[in-house]
Amino acid sequence: MKTYLVGGAVRDKLLGLPVKEHDWVVVGATPDELTALGYRRVGQDFPVFLHPDTKEEYALARTERKTGPGYKGFDVDFSGSITLEEDLKRRDLTVNAIAEDEDGNLIDPFGGQADLNKRILRHVSDAFVEDPVRLLRLARFLARFADLGFTIAPETGSLMTTMVKNGEIDNLVPERVWQELQKALNETRAENFFDALQQCGALERLFPQIHPEQAALAQQALIQACSLSKDAEIRFAAWLGCASENSISAICEQLRAPKSYQELALLTGKYQHFFEKSTQLPPPDILEGLQAVDAFRRPERFEKYLLAAEAVTRAKTGQPDWPHPQREYLYNASKQAMAITAKDLTKTNLSGPALAAELSKHRQAAISKIKRPYRWSKLR
Ligand code: CTP
Repeated sequence: MKTYLVGGAVRDKLLGLPVKEHDWVVVGATPDELTALGYRRVGQDFPVFLHPDTKEEYALARTERKTGPGYKGFDVDFSGSITLEEDLKRRDLTVNAIAEDEDGNLIDPFGGQADLNKRILRHVSDAFVEDPVRLLRLARFLARFADLGFTIAPETGSLMTTMVKNGEIDNLVPERVWQELQKALNETRAENFFDALQQCGALERLFPQIHPEQAALAQQALIQACSLSKDAEIRFAAWLGCASENSISAICEQLRAPKSYQELALLTGKYQHFFEKSTQLPPPDILEGLQAVDAFRRPERFEKYLLAAEAVTRAKTGQPDWPHPQREYLYNASKQAMAITAKDLTKTNLSGPALAAELSKHRQAAISKIKRPYRWSKLR
């Protein structure tokens, strides 16, 4: 029995990046042998085990052959005779198909190191098409590694296009799309994820609700959101911020996005116009808008909304470096308005709707005292 370090750990080490997770492959062992050594089996479909002490993942070397459509039709062979090379061959990308033995020697039958040096993401074999998640993974790796100069190999790009044309992409389940999309949103160049998907036609297929001309704007909004914040919720909301409310709801539902993502995306789409116009609105409208976005009860979400809406606004003006004073203005307005509470009005002896009206009056007055940024009306 021999164990090798494989996958992302070897890749990241060679790139000089910190290694988050160690995945191991075991050659020449049976499940029973590993169990007898104290490993705990966790894989349902594949024989994957957790190390008794380190709890790292150890997988028996295996081959996979697709026998039917979707996720179910896989013939998996993990008999003790499967070689390391056979296991590496079933993997997605050459840069992910390098193994390191216990002495630190690299086993690299598919030119992964050369591709790392050339900064190329290339599929290992035609088996790539057997798992449509790989299309998303590849797009995600581009989001992560584009700053290092990585590009997709032309032949891999063609294969991605074929996977879309042949309908392999239609086998993706929402959970996996969301999982990869969310991971991509956390990458430095998240926009590259969507760009790669657009290039191969997958974006349109996955999100028909986004029209091609909107896709370009969404892309710009995402770039802006990435420069404003690392928060994946903000980035997601900015990506969808230009779409119609119906489209935003449909996409969130289709992806089964967590509630916080859905809420922020919808809020951003619905109140984008309010944000853009805010510096020109009279105090009563500002107060009404702040209440509509629930700024007083949900201040954290409000701040996220401000960032997402600014990203969309920057994308719409096409002039990200111009001053966009709305965020600061609305933030100050919310703070000033929130500083006045019903307690401050106890002397008035008012109650019910009369008290609410008086509170609004005071809050509007507080808002009107904030210095307005210069008028700026590039947007309709
Ligand atoms: N792998 C694959 N096809 C997939 C998923 C995984 O070929 N659909 C292989 C790749 O060799 C990959 C390894 O399994 O490197 C480990 O997968 P995973 O931990 O999901 O990804 P990493 O490549 O380690 O990337 P990350 O840094 O995102 O964890």
